[in-house]
Amino acid sequence: MSCAPTPDTPGDFPIRVRGLKNAFGDFVVHEHLDLDVRRGEILGVVGGSGTGKSVLMRSIIGLQIPDAGEIEVLGSAITDARDDDDIDIRCRWGILFQGGALFSTLTVAENVEVPLREFYPEIDDQLRHEIARYKVLLSGLPAEATGKFPSELSGGMRKRAGLARALALDPELLFLDEPTAGLDPIGAAAFDQLILNLQQTLGLTVFLITHDLDTLYEICDRVAVIADKRVIAVGTIPELLATDHPWIQQYFNGPRGRAAQNAQERNAELLHEAAAIAQDHVAQDQTAQDRTVAPARGQA
Ligand SMILES: Nc1ncnc2c1ncn2[C@@H]1O[C@H](COP(=O)(O)OP(=O)(O)OP(=O)(O)O)[C@@H](O)[C@H]1O
Ligand SMILES: [Mg+2]
Repeated sequence: MSCAPTPDTPGDFPIRVRGLKNAFGDFVVHEHLDLDVRRGEILGVVGGSGTGKSVLMRSIIGLQIPDAGEIEVLGSAITDARDDDDIDIRCRWGILFQGGALFSTLTVAENVEVPLREFYPEIDDQLRHEIARYKVLLSGLPAEATGKFPSELSGGMRKRAGLARALALDPELLFLDEPTAGLDPIGAAAFDQLILNLQQTLGLTVFLITHDLDTLYEICDRVAVIADKRVIAVGTIPELLATDHPWIQQYFNGPRGRAAQNAQERNAELLHEAAAIAQDHVAQDQTAQDRTVAPARGQA
């Protein structure tokens, strides 16, 4: 198996889905589903429970064989890539599954080392340990978490450990399935900021399934809505609000949607005020500095 780079998709869409159909027996989950994910964006994916968000993610990463349709990831048709050991694009993405999916018998560091062992067996033990430790710290866990087992971690720490493993191979694409579910509001907000910082500093494209309206408002560039077995709308939240689909209206204009919107507006105001105060302080410091420098110059 090798991590050879695959040719990139022409244009700026690392993920393209066309005419996707998934069914379990007679139960059709997706039909005629299309989706483009733009390079460098955080795309939120929303939809009622059971509408097929996780199945869509599993299809994109090749874990679910679709009944029809085409999926292209980073320039490779995903079904071809799965059959071709020489061009393995799995090392170009990282995944945080809905349940965390950590190996319970391995420590956090050993969990992070799993993809490193699989894709880079030539890396020696010491370097692999160092990379794993770095990813654990990058995900906001303390260094002592490296030696802990998943059962010894809180839910939030487990999410961070899963994120550390998802980042193990320096991915271009990050798939997150409900990363803030089950976290307290402060922990969820911190996790949102972590994802945003990582996306900005590492230049990631993020496919983020969530029910968390605060996450959608705070960090998502666009949101794709799944209903009626397909993606019924993709856009910024104001663009979605301009549509008249009942589910979208109910979701974003319901009490929780409005509360999230108010919180986001309040946060933006606070940031604005903080920036103005900081600017004021800089100006005052500068004036004070000019006053002290001026006599010194006069005396020279
Ligand atoms: N392996 C499977 N076999 C049979 N049915 C399945 C399988 N996986 C998923 N389904 C069904 O497909 C539908 C979509 O499931 P999926 O897990 O994608 O929902 P979801 O949108 O992620 O929901 P949630 O928000 O609750 O996580 C559900 O009705 C589920 O029961
Ligand atoms: Mg799901």
